[in-house]
Amino acid sequence: MTDAPATDAPATAGASKESLTVRDNRTGVEYDLKITDNTIRAADLGQIKLGDQPGLATYDPGFVNTASCRSSVTYIDGDKGILEYRGYPIEQLAENSSFLEVAYLLIHGALPTKAEYDAWEHEITYHTFVHENVKSFMEGFRYDAHPMGMLMASVGALSTFYPDARNITDPDNRHIQMVRMIAKMPTLGAWSFRHAQGKPFIYPDNDLSYTANFLSMLFKMSEKKYGADERLVKALDTLFILHADHEQNASTNAVRSVGSTQVDPYSAVAAGVGALYGPLHGGANEAVLRMLRRIGSKQNIPAFIEGVKNGNEKLMGFGHRVYKNYDPRAKIIKKSAEDVFAVTGTNPLLEIALELEKIALEDEYFVKRRLYPNVDFYSGLIYEAFQFPPEMFTVLFAIGRTPGWLAQWLELVQDKDQKIARPKQIYTGERGLDFVPSSERWA
Ligand code: ACO
Repeated sequence: MTDAPATDAPATAGASKESLTVRDNRTGVEYDLKITDNTIRAADLGQIKLGDQPGLATYDPGFVNTASCRSSVTYIDGDKGILEYRGYPIEQLAENSSFLEVAYLLIHGALPTKAEYDAWEHEITYHTFVHENVKSFMEGFRYDAHPMGMLMASVGALSTFYPDARNITDPDNRHIQMVRMIAKMPTLGAWSFRHAQGKPFIYPDNDLSYTANFLSMLFKMSEKKYGADERLVKALDTLFILHADHEQNASTNAVRSVGSTQVDPYSAVAAGVGALYGPLHGGANEAVLRMLRRIGSKQNIPAFIEGVKNGNEKLMGFGHRVYKNYDPRAKIIKKSAEDVFAVTGTNPLLEIALELEKIALEDEYFVKRRLYPNVDFYSGLIYEAFQFPPEMFTVLFAIGRTPGWLAQWLELVQDKDQKIARPKQIYTGERGLDFVPSSERWA
């Protein structure tokens, strides 16, 4: 803390270059706050006080300008359209890697050797089964239960099957719980889907790859073995890769916030599934499909675009809080869509989507506002081609995001800087009221 300068000397005189000088005009006092990694510590503002009031705090609903952690998992540069997991560009991972390898990368921080990958794949493959009681309670949901509600409840319930998961300080214990969760998510997700259809639950087929097994649990009927078309397996695997992490998004923040209480990882991930369930997070691709259906044909596009420009409509699947040039995931998904439609036949809505994109990318309204297709513009079309009902879209997102949630959880529990997440508030209510008993109030 320094006294306010009496002259017009620059406020930063004498202060370190890597600092921020703040002058409290209520008192005239100046403070030098250390800048590290282009941030100041919010706690350092606590020294700025007026009389006996509590120290100064920041007000940041939605954490739009607050870093809550240091992380080395995912890097995003929204202006340049860059997304990297552990330093590797998403384009290269989507093209050359597999979801299981990406899951390894996210959690371990480096790509596996052949022996490490084989061991990882073996572990995940042999933990795909769940306790029979999980099956019983999933059968107990109402016939029309939303699959995300079922997924959230069943992931949370796994904590009761693995009470040792509470021992989050033991690295081996953490490892086995992460393996179990990545392995069992497709089983729980597929069974949520089958339940709504009144179809029998299909057990995992451990001869199949991670994603091929998921498709088998979703769609197998009476055949001995379910062999999905390899192009569909690859497309879904790519979609899982694209959704595997996205730094401090709402559901990851929920996982970290709940995880900061040192609860077991199943409970923390259940919180992430809950956050993803919300329409502002995991639900936009469903809205894209509704929009495309409403537009109905190419002839109606100009009128729709006019509606967007007049503020009466929103072009769903366009725009992003972070990506302002393009969403790198959207480009990859567009390619996957072509591969899927080569197998399933073209979704008639694709024609409308392509034309909308073409017009929007040339139109000044969208260009000026830097609105580009985001990950959700084409993903719903692909999921529909797989014959998933819209309620399942977010379940697919959750399966893909699980390794990211776990990598972030692991980072959290190993980070000495982290504390229980407990924000401040600005209290706006009454104070010191005298309680009047109901016998007097209602007399
Ligand atoms: N259609 C039409 N206009 C839009 C759109 C859109 N999809 N998105 C933004 N705009 C306009 C806004 O009206 C605003 O215009 P103005 O300056 O004339 O007022 C301007 O572009 C800036 O938009 P903001 O709302 O400030 O951008 P923000 O970063 O807050 O919002 C968001 C980002 C929520 C993604 C927004 O673009 C949107 O609602 N898009 C449609 C929904 C969607 O596709 N969501 C999925 C996002 S990806 C994901 O979550 C996985």
